[in-house]
Amino acid sequence: MVRFAWNSWAAVVSTGFAVAWAAGTVCAADPDPSAVRDPAKYIGISDCSKCHNAKKVGGQFNKWQAGPHSRAFAILGTPESKAIAARLGIANPQASGKCLKCHSTAYNWTEQLQTTMIKPEDGVVCESCHGPAKNYVPKTTSELTVETPLAQRSLADVLNPFSRPLKTCYTIITMEDRQNAIRAGLIYPAFQSCTRCHNDQSPTWKPDRYVNKQGKHVGFDLRQNFIKIAHPMPPPN
Ligand code: HEC
Ligand code: HEC
Ligand code: HEC
Ligand code: HEC
Repeated sequence: MVRFAWNSWAAVVSTGFAVAWAAGTVCAADPDPSAVRDPAKYIGISDCSKCHNAKKVGGQFNKWQAGPHSRAFAILGTPESKAIAARLGIANPQASGKCLKCHSTAYNWTEQLQTTMIKPEDGVVCESCHGPAKNYVPKTTSELTVETPLAQRSLADVLNPFSRPLKTCYTIITMEDRQNAIRAGLIYPAFQSCTRCHNDQSPTWKPDRYVNKQGKHVGFDLRQNFIKIAHPMPPPN
């Protein structure tokens, strides 16, 4: 079910076009993919853990914490990592975008940390695979200022060549509404994210790490890899 909350109802009404809004017009346009991947839109792991720790939703946070991705930064501090880095002329793997690109979160897009919300020490957090979450977590108000279409303007506005009436729309995105969450930046299905890091650009890549269903040696096998980190929601009762 699509749920909208019109916070600034008064502001909307005062533009005089309440009828169009009451009909449920969605103001937010589909985000442009580069905006969706904007590192400034990361919110970090602590928000997700508030809701996704509970057993009844599947305890995704605990599963993540016990899994390999939460250790992705720590592993860059091992002697093995330092030796790999030294061979590549990198002094400190825990400070190099060349490693953090895949061993942490925001660097994944840019090789630069551009947000204070993501700490490299947190490793590969939820948003690495599910996308920067600023606009799709519950209670996020997406605010948009748009120009009022000509047909909806008052006669006085139409006659005034200097008038550019603007209106503000508000939408509350909830995670229950998958399509809306996707429009707001949720990457779903998240399987498409894996090979951004699990690829031959990794210095420890082994092209024959897995034997797939067809008996072929591969460096990454989605089925076998995903089983190791699966964190589904419980079936509805
Ligand atoms: C305020 C609580 C809350 C917070 C905070 C929250 N979630 Fe959720 N999330 C939910 C609920 C509730 C659902 C289940 C919706 C349902 O039953 O379909 C959900 C569903 C999901 C789904 C499955 C979506 C689908 O359509 O199947 C993903 C992925 C997800 N959350 C990721 C995240 C990530 C990543 C974060 C942090 C950036 C986060 N959530 C923060 C409450 C929350
Ligand atoms: C293209 C993404 C990518 C880059 C860049 C990258 N890594 Fe990794 N790294 C991975 C992945 C994915 C794994 C998990 C093992 C696998 O499946 O290949 C991993 C695993 C490791 C491991 C564990 C060894 C193992 O075989 O599991 C070490 C150590 C490591 N990386 C060090 C580094 C260092 C040091 C750098 C920088 C010089 C670096 N990595 C850069 C993706 C990357
Ligand atoms: C390594 C990538 C990765 C990381 C990290 C990750 N997820 Fe997921 N997650 C997936 C994939 C893949 C699925 C399967 C469904 C899909 O494709 O979106 C999934 C499924 C889910 C689902 C259930 C959707 C359903 O329909 O059953 C929720 C909820 C979720 N993730 C939340 C989280 C939260 C919260 C975190 C961080 C604590 C997290 N995930 C970390 C890749 C990841
Ligand atoms: C942002 C980069 C990134 C993304 C995206 C990513 N991984 Fe990883 N993954 C890593 C790194 C780095 C490691 C090594 C961490 C460690 O060894 O502790 C790793 C380790 C693993 C491991 C344990 C090592 C192994 O080969 O058994 C599994 C399993 C895994 N990832 C599955 C997945 C799956 C499935 C997806 C997609 C749903 C995914 N990963 C997406 C970076 C990533």
